Amino acid sequence: MCGIIGIIGKDAVTPRLIDGLRRLEYRGYDSAGVATLVNGHIGRRRAEGKIANLEARVAAEPLAGTTGIAHTRWATHGGVSERNAHPIATDRVAIVHNGIIENFQELKEELLAQGRRFDSETDTEAVAQLLTSYLERQMTPEEAMGQAMARLKGAFALVCMFAGRHDLLIGARRNCPLAVGYGEGEMYLGSDGLALAPLTKRICYLDEDDWVVVRQDGARIFNNGQPVERPITTTALSGALIGKGNHRHFMLKEMHEHPEAVSNTLRSYLDPTTRAVTPPDLPFDWKDVPRLTITACGTAFYAALIAKYWFEQLARLPVEADIGSEFRYREAPMPAGGVCIAVSQSGETADTLAALRYAKTQGQTILSVVNVPESAMARESSVVMPTLAGPEIAVASTKALTAQLVVLATLAIAAARARGTLSREREAELVAALVEVPSRIAEVLNNDDAIAAVAHRIADARDVLYLGRGVCYPIALEGALKLKELSYIHAEGYPAGEMKHGPIALITEEVPVVVVAPTDSLADKIASNLEQVHARGGKPVLLSDAAGVARLGAKAFAALTMPAVDPFVAPILYAVPVQLLAYHAAVAKGTDVDQPRNLAKSVVVE
Ligand code: AGP
Repeated sequence: MCGIIGIIGKDAVTPRLIDGLRRLEYRGYDSAGVATLVNGHIGRRRAEGKIANLEARVAAEPLAGTTGIAHTRWATHGGVSERNAHPIATDRVAIVHNGIIENFQELKEELLAQGRRFDSETDTEAVAQLLTSYLERQMTPEEAMGQAMARLKGAFALVCMFAGRHDLLIGARRNCPLAVGYGEGEMYLGSDGLALAPLTKRICYLDEDDWVVVRQDGARIFNNGQPVERPITTTALSGALIGKGNHRHFMLKEMHEHPEAVSNTLRSYLDPTTRAVTPPDLPFDWKDVPRLTITACGTAFYAALIAKYWFEQLARLPVEADIGSEFRYREAPMPAGGVCIAVSQSGETADTLAALRYAKTQGQTILSVVNVPESAMARESSVVMPTLAGPEIAVASTKALTAQLVVLATLAIAAARARGTLSREREAELVAALVEVPSRIAEVLNNDDAIAAVAHRIADARDVLYLGRGVCYPIALEGALKLKELSYIHAEGYPAGEMKHGPIALITEEVPVVVVAPTDSLADKIASNLEQVHARGGKPVLLSDAAGVARLGAKAFAALTMPAVDPFVAPILYAVPVQLLAYHAAVAKGTDVDQPRNLAKSVVVE
């Protein structure tokens, strides 16, 4: 997703704007640019590709000015080119935009009919030209923005800078996050707190349809034409630029943070002395809940799917899990007294946020499991259950998944206890299994060389299948997603029982089949699935514990022995090797592991 930063400063802003873009790199982008006011005129430098290219452009043609805006672009409308890189500008206004202006074509035609000329292929330019047309009708920048907000449809976070007005920036948000930073005699605007953290700790997150007039001494926020107040919070985000440490990639660093993410999160939901789960205060009694809905996207959705098994098996509670992009439009009937959990690393994913909002309109109590407590989802939930995974920079979500699973596991145990469906003894066993997970994950990480060796043996495959059953079926989906998004190899995750209903036709000696098979109540079933693959000359890659490998290893093309764990926590543990397999396959293929092509870290548009 695009990254936005704006500064009304006391001295030259270009270096800090570019530094701000560096902190937004993790969001994924394909071009970058900066604009400042130089003697009242708009000056711009833009470049395709990485921020280093923009830095070279600025070094060659320095850009002065104490007011400026900057942007990393993840192309939606208009190809990747300097012409389409933001800031997009006319002679009167420069603008940076995250999101999609859905009615830009209609606006563009109207403005072309007025004789205006467009320079780029972007939807953003319709906003720049619209504002310019208003300014040319002698409107003030504030009046122009008020008018424009009424015309724009879609999802956007905008920051606008006006020729001759170094004392002013105007920002606006609709379905895309935008924050105001309060400095000492300086003011800032940014996509998120991480971008603003090195500039200030005092952050105000705008709400839906807010727009803000920012001057050097403060900000005035409006909504529907009326002035509104929004709280200024002190962000916990670190100002230090998050580095990779001694790891080659952010993803590898974050893989090695799994144990810490799990234990830090677990500590927030367990009483260390009694070792009983300690869920947050909830505005309902699980006994009275007729149905639980869990919605998420991508990797977070696999956490939702695993939680479905846990809540149904432990708490005997009916659960529906659905991806945000489907749930938001399905018009699903939802029972009175129902509960909806949104799961998201960023807390900003547009589809999940929209699904949460639908559930709210249906009277559901909303819980969110997020890694960013200041995010939109957190702000719109009745109860926030933070994962304490720390900032996740790599586009591939890794440690957030195991942290999400820990939160959901403790919640399922709490629900089961409240509904009287879990004995104290079994609860103690489950909690003990959770407490051991960080150490078991560390053992897996210590076996990284063996995992890398297997990854190298599948890295040349054209197609890879992943199979799992029960709570490990979603881990098969996660393994396939990771392989796709990191190494660009086509991969599919399947419930192992589905093989005979079609996918088995794909089995040849060219097709590795990763079988996620801890020893559990379904071990016999998945053993026969592995045999079916083997009998057709396929290449089973077995992930199991020692007992499973002893039983099936002879039929496997490759086998990875995992620590033996209670089946309840197996999905948390087995997320790690499937993510590592994808990581090493991607490294072998030389892809951009931390920022894979076409992907963004937080998908804040549809
Ligand atoms: C996971 O590796 C992907 N990058 C992607 O599927 C991600 O999980 C999805 O976009 C959801 O993001 P969120 O957790 O921030 O909502």
